[in-house]
Amino acid sequence: MSLKHFITTQDLSRDEIDELLGEAARFKRERLGRDLAGRSIALVFFNPSMRTRTSFELGAWQLGGYAVVLAPGRDAWGIEFEPGAVMDGEAEEHIAEVARVLSRYVDLIGVRAFPKFVDWAVDREDRVIHGFARHATVPVINLETITHPCQELAHALALRERFGDLRGRKYVLTWTYHPKALNTAVANSALLIATRLGMDVTLLCPTPEYVLDERYMALGHANAAAAGGRLTVSHDIESAYRDADVVYAKSWGALPYFGRWPDEKPIRDRYRHFIVDEAKMALTNGGVFSHCLPLRRNVKATDGVMDAPYCIAIDEAENRLHVQKAVMTRLLAWNGRA
Ligand code: CP
Repeated sequence: MSLKHFITTQDLSRDEIDELLGEAARFKRERLGRDLAGRSIALVFFNPSMRTRTSFELGAWQLGGYAVVLAPGRDAWGIEFEPGAVMDGEAEEHIAEVARVLSRYVDLIGVRAFPKFVDWAVDREDRVIHGFARHATVPVINLETITHPCQELAHALALRERFGDLRGRKYVLTWTYHPKALNTAVANSALLIATRLGMDVTLLCPTPEYVLDERYMALGHANAAAAGGRLTVSHDIESAYRDADVVYAKSWGALPYFGRWPDEKPIRDRYRHFIVDEAKMALTNGGVFSHCLPLRRNVKATDGVMDAPYCIAIDEAENRLHVQKAVMTRLLAWNGRA
């Protein structure tokens, strides 16, 4: 049997997604357990984190397991990912050794590796996590690369807690301004999970240049068709917000300008008014607002939105803890290692 990893929710069946969300709800009710007694996870961070690191470390500990945190190039050796590379540069070891050695020590490997933001054609191959998956002999978990599947589950759980069945709910994924060009991972993920769960999804962004990668747009359309939902693109703020049940915000860099961010900056700067504010939320159907966090207040969303009762971003962040316990325990079970 090939190893089952958690790299994208697209690799999971709807039943498996429901199983994870059900387990997460159980872990939310019963925080402490022995489900990971004697088990361990290596959390490999190529980029910073607050929520992911804290919730994975704590989640493993609350279930009797142990987490080792590594930052290659800082507190661990730099890693080469290119097959056949002549390693006369900065990297001290190859993923072929790193993944296999870690697999002898731990039961699970989590990897956070953002794009390098130079060439999207390269970054969209997601070589770092696929390098781990290729060489590891234990399951690999995506802690955010070009998608963020743990965030998807936390988001889905928070929405189910509010709405129950999500089919047919009007869901708006809105681009927001940010002074820097950011990763598309959470936006790709929001599109995947919202369409998977059968919602009526609108991708709201300033211009066609901000539409997400064709791979995720195609998956979104296929998911929507399979789940009886819909995916549309809009550049009109008012009609997108009107009667929405869910507003999910994220900023990302326009892919046609990938790696040429000085060229994109003046375009992005024209769309600061995409900020989520109380007036826009008033157009919704008493909808909820969320964001993956971290969030720059009064740039992406106003204080009034962040502090409103309809903001469920903190619930979503809490849910990271619960869904990731489910991911760790179910991955071991699905791989016959429980
Ligand atoms: N949402 C999220 O992944 O947060 P961190 O970057 O703090 O881990």
